Amino acid sequence: MGRVLVMEHPLIQHKIGIIRRKETSSKEFRELVSEIAMFMAYEATRDLKLRDVEIETPITKTQAKELAGKKMAVIPILRAGLGMVEGMLTMVPAAKIGHIGLYRDPETLKPVEYYCKLPADCGDREVFVTDPMLATGGSAAAAISMLKEKGVKNIRFMCIIAAPEGVKVLEEAHPDVDIYIGALDDHLNEHGYIVPGLGDAGDRIFGTK
Ligand code: PRP
Ligand code: URA
Repeated sequence: MGRVLVMEHPLIQHKIGIIRRKETSSKEFRELVSEIAMFMAYEATRDLKLRDVEIETPITKTQAKELAGKKMAVIPILRAGLGMVEGMLTMVPAAKIGHIGLYRDPETLKPVEYYCKLPADCGDREVFVTDPMLATGGSAAAAISMLKEKGVKNIRFMCIIAAPEGVKVLEEAHPDVDIYIGALDDHLNEHGYIVPGLGDAGDRIFGTK
C-alpha cells in the first residue's frame, strides 16, 4: 500500500490557513500555492536515495553525496495543478514537466480528459503529479491511470487539501502511489466541494470567478 502523508510543518499549515480565507486575493493565493508546493516538495523528497562520490574541493579530495535515484518529473493536472509547478521547480530545478488536462464535469463530477503531453523519458522518472485539490478523487485517479497506460511506473501524488473520500478512492485505485497532503479536511458537500476547503482552486489561482 502507498503511504498517505499529511504535512505537519507549521509554515505549510500557516500558509494553508491564509489560502482558505475568502478575502485572499488571486495574486496572494497564487504566490502562496507556489510557496506551499515548494515546502511540500522539500518534505516529499526526504526519502530520495543518495550515493557517495569522490570530489575535489579547492583544499583536498573528499567523499560527498549526490542524488542516486531516478530523475524527476512534475506533472500538473490542468488547470489548478499548474499553480504548484513553479514552487516544485524551486526545489528541483532539473525536473521535466508534463501536462495532463482534465476537468470535472459539474453535473456528473466525473473527470473529462482533454490533454496529455509528457516528457519522452517519463517512464524512467520519479513522477510527482500535482493538483491542489483531491475531492472525489476522480481526477487524480484518472490522471494516474493515463500515466500508467503511457508506461509511467514511479508515481507520487501531491495535493494541498484532500477530502477523506478522495483519499480512499485514490488509495483503492492506485495502492502503489504515495499521497502527500497539505491538510486533510472533513468531508465533501453535495456539490463535491471540500468542506471547509478553499472553494474552486482553479478559479482562485487564475481569477476566473
Ligand atoms: C478541480 C481540482 C481537481 C479536481 C478535484 O479541478 O483542481 O483537478 O477539481 O476534484 P475531484 O477529486 O472530485 O476530481 P476542476 O475540474 O475544477 O478543473 P480546473 O482545474 O480546470 O478548474
Ligand atoms: N475542486 C476544487 O477546486 N475545489 C473543491 O473543493 C473540490 C474540487
